[in-house]
Amino acid sequence: MELFEEKFTSSMSSKVALLNRITHFIVNRKGKQMRPMFVFLVAKLLGKGKVNERTYRGAAVIELIHTATLVHDDVVDDSNKRRGFFSINALWKNKIAVLVGDFLLSKGLLLSIENEDFDLLKIISVAVREMSQGELLQIEKARDLDITEEVYYEIIRQKTATLLAACCAMGAQSVGADKKTVEKMHLFGEKLGMAFQIKDDLFDYGEERIGKPLGIDIKEKKMTLPLIHTLSKVTSTEKHWIITTVKNHNSDKKKVRELIAMIKEKGGLDFAIKKMEVFRDEALTLLNDFPKNEYRDALSLMVNYVIERKA
Ligand code: IPE
Ligand code: IPE
Ligand code: MG
Ligand code: MG
Repeated sequence: MELFEEKFTSSMSSKVALLNRITHFIVNRKGKQMRPMFVFLVAKLLGKGKVNERTYRGAAVIELIHTATLVHDDVVDDSNKRRGFFSINALWKNKIAVLVGDFLLSKGLLLSIENEDFDLLKIISVAVREMSQGELLQIEKARDLDITEEVYYEIIRQKTATLLAACCAMGAQSVGADKKTVEKMHLFGEKLGMAFQIKDDLFDYGEERIGKPLGIDIKEKKMTLPLIHTLSKVTSTEKHWIITTVKNHNSDKKKVRELIAMIKEKGGLDFAIKKMEVFRDEALTLLNDFPKNEYRDALSLMVNYVIERKA
């Protein structure tokens, strides 16, 4: 991870002073770096304990793109906090955040292109496409408020799980795993990515300090699993009240508190936890096809961390 960080940092350099100030800020407030960890562990699992330069570059590309999407996501979600401090849009405004996100995205893609890692570039480009589609599908559903459980899974698969799938596929591809193995790792990453986003959505209902705002999903009319499940369990009068609250009173603290209490009372959070555990188990089952060693054990620990983490 230390070597990775060196490469990651140097991959962001620019001659524009403003941009350098912002990328320094980003590097100093790093996140959990789960994605590069998945890249390395999968590569080690399949590469007999070894990683190579392609693995490092792949991990750097993924983290660059992940960072770009967070910078853009905070503009989209109008969120002013990230990683325990102000977001880029809160500090430098939307205009700059949009451009910084584009810069990071292009730096990531160029890192692959300049080194002719075209196989890795393909994996990551598919994920980038899916992520934008997922965020747009989410906006479409926030407008209509007609989301079903199935559509919710499609949104989180696209916006979050595909990037984790790309991490695991890339780790495998970087050490020359065969096509079937790369696909299996892709599916493993997708399952754990689903669990990861359900956990993130559960945080939004909680009170724990996680370094980003709480309770902004309802404010943004983002309907996640606890709310979707509640809607399927209530009377039509209650349903009408919920929809009106999300649509027209999403900034009314008292009403939103009442809605959250209702979701808890109807078992919305428990339902989401159960589904999250199903995805975790599916991910763990896929791992069992690989020989048991320290890397496989580390990957199972990471999968469990995804759903037990405190931030
Ligand atoms: C946040 O991802 C974005 C989601 C897909 C929920 P992380 O929680 O991995 O973000 P950092 O990199 O650790 O801040
Ligand atoms: C995931 O969705 C964001 C991306 C895939 C970029 P969220 O909007 O829930 O992520 P957070 O909570 O802002 O990190
Ligand atoms: Mg967001
Ligand atoms: Mg969130």
